[in-house]
Amino acid sequence: MGVIGTGMVGASFAYALMQRGLANEMVLIDTKRERAEAEAMDLNHGLPFVRPMRIWAGDYSDLASAAITVVTAGAAQQPGETRLQLLERNTAILREVIPAIVRHNPDGIILLASNPVDLMTYLTVQLSGLPPAKVIGSGTILDTARFRTLLGERYTVDPRSVHAYIVGEHGDSEVPLWSLANIGGVPLRDFRSAGGIGYDEAALQNIFERTSDAAYTIIQRKGATYYAIGLGLLAITEAILRNQHTVLTVSSLMTTQQDVPEICISLPSIVGARGIEAVLQLPLSPEEEAAFRRSASTLRTRFEQIPAQ
Ligand SMILES: NC(=O)c1ccc[n+]([C@@H]2O[C@H](COP(=O)([O-])OP(=O)(O)OC[C@H]3O[C@@H](n4cnc5c(N)ncnc54)[C@H](O)[C@@H]3O)[C@@H](O)[C@H]2O)c1
Repeated sequence: MGVIGTGMVGASFAYALMQRGLANEMVLIDTKRERAEAEAMDLNHGLPFVRPMRIWAGDYSDLASAAITVVTAGAAQQPGETRLQLLERNTAILREVIPAIVRHNPDGIILLASNPVDLMTYLTVQLSGLPPAKVIGSGTILDTARFRTLLGERYTVDPRSVHAYIVGEHGDSEVPLWSLANIGGVPLRDFRSAGGIGYDEAALQNIFERTSDAAYTIIQRKGATYYAIGLGLLAITEAILRNQHTVLTVSSLMTTQQDVPEICISLPSIVGARGIEAVLQLPLSPEEEAAFRRSASTLRTRFEQIPAQ
């Protein structure tokens, strides 16, 4: 396993991976070498409490046998910085990181969390030359987890029994799929909780707003979000390493979606050892389909604003 960028997200993922005992080896790579070394030391000191594995701070040449390289390099938006400036900054980082990964590891899977994650995933498809199935963005896995958590809280149900997706951009144009949302197979519109809580459109709209505002709320209070995305990256990694064929809302290159421009964006997808095995064709409502297409167009337009290097 390779982790590029050992800031808050990279370290949270590394900590989660080590506890799950999924990999024998993990190399941490960061331009701030001392940061990667310190994270490796700290994680190593926890090994007596979990399962043995080899964790070290290294270089790109150490990635040669990595099944997956997780890319979390790149900073989040700074105060006063526009989204486009951030995009340019993180694009420059990826133009350095991705060719270095592929040079040493031409067969592995690249999993990205760096934002704006859909555009970074698309850029990686182009920069890496890898089959598109092997380039995966964390996409709306986190938004979907937030959505399921809040719905589970409302109805006092384990979020794992809440089946509801956020698709589209990981960002402002994301789309909640209300028409398919269900709890244990019961459509949300018909569901009544043990405590008598039933359908209420305004309350559900509020849940979606809290889902899409969650990153802003957390960043305002503690500067960054990292635990939940760390676990989301772990879920994707586990699906690949154990060849689980798990359905996850991750970002990948759209190849068969009608009327969607070429871009990476999230839809529920089957993830296994080969990476993206299939993107589900969902029976969306006309409004959801239109919103998904708008989200894809927004991403495509933003991608075209990236200056050529
Ligand atoms: N996809 C998601 O759902 C999600 C959620 C949270 C954060 N993020 C994104 O993840 C990224 C990382 O967030 P963070 O909070 O860990 O940031 P951070 O600033 O804590 O860490 C980023 C790390 O990347 C390193 N880095 C920068 N350039 C590099 C390069 N060229 N090579 C190797 N390492 C390099 C930095 O030294 C730093 O240690 C951001 O883009 C953030 O927006 C995504």
